[in-house]
Amino acid sequence: MNSISVREFEGRRVLVTGGTKGAGAAMVHRFALAGARVATTARSAVCPDGVNCELYIPADVATPEGATNVGRTLTEQWDGVDVLIHNVGGSATPGGGFAVITDELWEQELNVNLLAAVRLDRLLLPLMIERGNGVVIHISSIQRRLPLPASTTAYAAAKAALTTYSKSLSKEVGPKGVRVLSVAPGWIYTSAAEGLVKRIADQGGVDEDAARQQILDSLGGIPIGRPAMPEEVADLVAFLASPRAASIHGTELVIDGGTIPTV
Ligand SMILES: NC(=O)c1ccc[n+]([C@@H]2O[C@H](COP(=O)([O-])OP(=O)(O)OC[C@H]3O[C@@H](n4cnc5c(N)ncnc54)[C@H](OP(=O)(O)O)[C@@H]3O)[C@@H](O)[C@H]2O)c1
Repeated sequence: MNSISVREFEGRRVLVTGGTKGAGAAMVHRFALAGARVATTARSAVCPDGVNCELYIPADVATPEGATNVGRTLTEQWDGVDVLIHNVGGSATPGGGFAVITDELWEQELNVNLLAAVRLDRLLLPLMIERGNGVVIHISSIQRRLPLPASTTAYAAAKAALTTYSKSLSKEVGPKGVRVLSVAPGWIYTSAAEGLVKRIADQGGVDEDAARQQILDSLGGIPIGRPAMPEEVADLVAFLASPRAASIHGTELVIDGGTIPTV
């Protein structure tokens, strides 16, 4: 039986992609608190103040060059990682439904939400397999099951591909000692989400509670009445990466306050 230790990641090498903001920043903080050596990546040239990571690699992981840079740096400086959290993701498609999603936008969504993880796994998984252990977690989205067509069709499809890829990978590398999982959050109350609430409030001439309610309504409601906090997502990810979750493999964990309306 594994006991719970506050420093359960002492000395473990963890990469959280996109760890300078939102859920990723909460994950960086959570793993560092538990004693891990944490590396992160983002596109900005320098690591923002207050991000608690030991190694910062500026890179656009949505490009083959960026992913190669991250993989090479971690291989050379840390001889790989023990825990790999693919957190980078998001949608940049404008509103307007399927007709406005050009090939270029499709490629962009697939690069950010699927291929960044595929490329980094290809670079860093061989070292985990060599050692016979490691954990890989892909941050997907409930949109892979509950797509919102107004502006995120391509994002939802890319996340669906990510979850399916994650399952296939788990079958291949589980027998070699590497656990692979995906996590599907619903709405997370990041600073970007706060910004969106303020924008809707300003543009619609309503208060922030009403703006928040509009977003909840667009999701069909959240039974617990609120989005998840970044720290809650980070706690789930840390549990799944820990030895306490050693039997959890090849599946997707949903953290959405009950948003998905079906079993
Ligand atoms: N927020 C939600 O409600 C929600 C819901 C479901 C799923 N998710 C998923 O949860 C994950 C985190 O979302 P979030 O909302 O917390 O993200 P966020 O606040 O937008 O932060 C994204 C992070 O990734 C970095 N990043 C973005 N594109 C990058 C790229 N191409 N290369 C390197 N770094 C990049 C950003 O830094 P730079 O901008 O400096 O590069 C930042 O550190 C994503 O996979 C998202 O799809 C989020």
